[in-house]
Amino acid sequence: MLLEVKDLQVKYGNITALHGISFHVNEGEIVTLIGANGAGKTTTLHSICRLPPPEAPKVTGGDILLRGQSLLKVEPHDLVRKYHLALVPEGRHIFGNLTVRENLKLATYARRGESGLEEDYQRVFELFPRLEERSRQRSESLSGGEQQMLAVGRALMSGCTFLMLDEPSMGLAPLLMYDMFRALKKLNEEGMTILLIEQNAHVALQLADRGYLLDTGNIVVSGTAAELMETPEIHKAYLGG
Ligand SMILES: Nc1ncnc2c1ncn2[C@@H]1O[C@H](COP(=O)(O)OP(=O)(O)OP(=O)(O)O)[C@@H](O)[C@H]1O
Ligand SMILES: [Mg+2]
Repeated sequence: MLLEVKDLQVKYGNITALHGISFHVNEGEIVTLIGANGAGKTTTLHSICRLPPPEAPKVTGGDILLRGQSLLKVEPHDLVRKYHLALVPEGRHIFGNLTVRENLKLATYARRGESGLEEDYQRVFELFPRLEERSRQRSESLSGGEQQMLAVGRALMSGCTFLMLDEPSMGLAPLLMYDMFRALKKLNEEGMTILLIEQNAHVALQLADRGYLLDTGNIVVSGTAAELMETPEIHKAYLGG
């Protein structure tokens, strides 16, 4: 098991956002957490990555284990450097006044030395050819979808082996959304483990091996992607039937 979240309870101030959730991700899997607005999806990712305050949710119970070791005691900056874990946050957070290539370069700070750097630029540009065409362009001039690609590209440049994404399809037109999901599938086939947060259950379940449904801070359904697609709760609420 790569990631194991056990009875995780999380609060913002005295409001409980996660009521003791448990789930896991095996090496090489794509696992999706789906759920409506406010279900606790972003909170779950932020608890794993422990963003600095004031955004940070407070873990008040349970544990988060990576290869059996608690992440709660690990310094957040070591998550990238030592644990090869990267987050593509909701809302992208790219640097608009830097070029595409500069944004990618910036993400390499956690790596040791330059080895493999050119290969990784090539890998990003192969996955997202639009980024290569625009590599010398300021990032703020990219379309929303292209910025989303850049955010994924940047995570790859960190040298991660475990990628967590918070609604990468948000705001993307259908064609770009399918490009994005194709890219994720290709990365997974090359060995990347992926934890995917999505509101769009339809695309998420087509891509994922397994998934969990979060509802107001609780996991209410879990199973293989095929099982989840047949679950009445998911079918009714998310798959339009
Ligand atoms: N910084 C914060 N301070 C206080 N409450 C918060 C904070 N961030 C989130 N919450 C609350 O925690 C709950 C879970 O929010 P979260 O952002 O994890 O939902 P989500 O599943 O990611 O939703 P969405 O699909 O809208 O992104 C919500 O009730 C939200 O209002
Ligand atoms: Mg969210």
